[in-house]
Amino acid sequence: MRRTILDLTRGVPPVEAFPLDELACCAEAALRRDSNALLQYGRSPGYAPLRAWLAEQYGVRPAQVFTGNSSLEIFWFVIQTHLQPGARVFVESPSYDRALTLLRRAGAQIVGIPMEDDGLNLQVLEDELERGTPALLYVIADFQNPTGITTGLDKRKRLAALAEEYGFWIVEDAPYRHLRYVGQEVPTIWSLAPSRVLHVSSFSKVLAPGLRLGYLVGPTQPVAALAAWAVDTYIGPVFPTQGLVYEYCLRGLLEPNIGRLRTVYHPRLLAALSGLDKHLAGATWATPEGGFFVGVTLPDGSDVAALRVRAERAGLRLSSGQDFFPTAAEGMRFLRIPFCSLTPEEIEEALSRLACLL
Ligand SMILES: Cc1ncc(COP(=O)(O)O)c(C=O)c1O
Repeated sequence: MRRTILDLTRGVPPVEAFPLDELACCAEAALRRDSNALLQYGRSPGYAPLRAWLAEQYGVRPAQVFTGNSSLEIFWFVIQTHLQPGARVFVESPSYDRALTLLRRAGAQIVGIPMEDDGLNLQVLEDELERGTPALLYVIADFQNPTGITTGLDKRKRLAALAEEYGFWIVEDAPYRHLRYVGQEVPTIWSLAPSRVLHVSSFSKVLAPGLRLGYLVGPTQPVAALAAWAVDTYIGPVFPTQGLVYEYCLRGLLEPNIGRLRTVYHPRLLAALSGLDKHLAGATWATPEGGFFVGVTLPDGSDVAALRVRAERAGLRLSSGQDFFPTAAEGMRFLRIPFCSLTPEEIEEALSRLACLL
């Protein structure tokens, strides 16, 4: 295994996790059953049967569901419909690097709120609220990317109450929510403040990212605004993907697939945690209960930028910690460990290589 390059940069599912035969079968069935709707131009907010199915899952009306080509694209549309350049936006610090990139691209004034082991530091958040209400707060409440942290129920309730009191939107980005390996599910922030939360999710992590299928659940007014924006942008998203996923869901295949993924990923999380215990004394991390990542803070004086160069020579690819922070000066000691795309043996090997470099 020594000479294999081990990649700890990508939060992607392993290719062997894709249910290829089922997807192929559903693609054919969907096209044959509803070819006119799927092959003609379809309009945003998306393929009606899939939106109705999602609406039923969430207990809302279909007018509250928007579907698009990936949750990242939906977030970009939310930014375009909800933010003026210079708008204040609160994010968890650290947060998902691509979301930060999109916010920067839109000229947002990004305010990072530090993460604690159960979610945002509410004191800092409330101090920042006194300085000025944000247009939106972007939160990954379940198994956060990049820390793996899940926001506790009390904090969710407080966030929901603050959004209502101050009148800002919360974007709750939840692609990992169903990938819980241990512990109890926590209610979504959306369920606590449905008039103030745009709940965004995706089929990327529970089915396959190449499908590029994401969705948003929220009040009808922002959903209609997103749909109008999307129609002006490209008429509608890729309908064959939506038809195929609808067929997959209709056949009841999604839940068993998620169950199967949990059994693949849980041992990988355990391997990451035991490898960290064994090899990274002096580092700290919160213990995730699901998702794709463990976020590690290396001991004082560590420099991930220099470590990455040494790691590359040792056949180990690492992400830049700074990319996950709103201000680049932070994150020098932060290392995101994505554990789903490597086998338990590869994770152990990667962490033992890492230990030799510290
Ligand atoms: C928090 C978060 N949001 C969104 C995405 C992207 O999802 P999608 O493939 O639906 O764009 C990711 C992917 O890594 C993610 O970690």
